[in-house]
Amino acid sequence: MGEGIALQIETTRLRLREMTLEDAPAMGAIWGDAETMRWYPRALTREEIEEWIGRQMSRYPSGTGLLGMVLKETAELIGDCGPTWQEVDGVAEVEIGYHVHRAHQGRGYATEAARQARDYGFTELGRESVISLIRPENGPSRRVAEKNGMMLERVIFWRGYDHCVYRVQREAAA
Ligand SMILES: CC(C)(COP(=O)(O)OP(=O)(O)OC[C@H]1O[C@@H](n2cnc3c(N)ncnc32)[C@H](O)[C@@H]1OP(=O)(O)O)[C@@H](O)C(=O)NCCC(=O)NCCS
Repeated sequence: MGEGIALQIETTRLRLREMTLEDAPAMGAIWGDAETMRWYPRALTREEIEEWIGRQMSRYPSGTGLLGMVLKETAELIGDCGPTWQEVDGVAEVEIGYHVHRAHQGRGYATEAARQARDYGFTELGRESVISLIRPENGPSRRVAEKNGMMLERVIFWRGYDHCVYRVQREAAA
């Protein structure tokens, strides 16, 4: 990703765009919500959400990072999705992550965004495969991974919890 080029991914209903600290209040309704974050150690405070957005902003120049998920119809920020580098058993992998505001779940938005992020991983990042790391109990997220063409590869202990490694190969997604 060249200097000064904003990372942006379009889908039929969504625009995935780089976040700024101004997005902290909207992201607070997601990352600060205990129910949405039940598969994470805990919900984030406002300060932690700003740190988290700052971490994504530092990833953008290299063409990765979780992007704000904006509903084209209303311009509302309803979640995030995008590719990030994660180290899994000592191997650098591109992971597709997604989080959607509770009021907007179940409408296919995560799947729609994840498919484009997956293809971005193949075309722009040149990956042969991309993964998603998901707690075994997280049924909705596992379903999104399956709808994204991914298959369960193995279960690993990662960041203090068991995680399913879901993977899709470039040729399988074509
Ligand atoms: C995971 C998440 C992003 C999915 O977002 P979404 O926009 O609702 O996803 P989609 O609508 O594209 O797909 C959800 C699928 O899960 C299914 N689902 C819902 N509840 C489920 C459950 N308890 N068990 C299994 N599948 C379930 C839905 O039926 C749907 O599948 P379908 O289209 O075959 O009916 C959302 O639930 C979320 O933000 N969760 C909290 C954050 C999180 O855990 N993120 C993932 C971290 S790995």
